[in-house]
Amino acid sequence: MTDRRSFLTAAGLAAVTVGTGLGASGCAKPVQIGTGATRATIPAADVPVGGGVVLTDARFVVTQPSPGVYRAFDRTCTHQDCPVKRVEGGGISCSCHGSRFSLEDGSVLAGPATRPLPPRTVTVRGDQLDLAP
Ligand code: FES
Repeated sequence: MTDRRSFLTAAGLAAVTVGTGLGASGCAKPVQIGTGATRATIPAADVPVGGGVVLTDARFVVTQPSPGVYRAFDRTCTHQDCPVKRVEGGGISCSCHGSRFSLEDGSVLAGPATRPLPPRTVTVRGDQLDLAP
């Protein structure tokens, strides 16, 4: 059985661990992505040509590099696991440390990330896009 002092000590250590958030590299490691849905369906019209969208309630970033060509990737940055923030200026951007990824294949355009965003399956079904692992 846990007494009150042991519980408070454990809770305090957990708070310190969460509060510092320092990664092994010593870089600040912002809040990590939670568990989002691993399947989703979105309107194709939500994905602009030459751009894309980062879903907030599912683990995807979806792009349309050219008309009618859709790509999906895991939205978790491969640097230190922040969710990528937005699709802008022809790339997918992570605001935590500035990494950028290709709309076409998720490859790294700018570090510090060194690995591409993992591809995900996107299937066009009428005017909808089905997203899956
Ligand atoms: S987590 Fe560092 S650039 Fe994305």
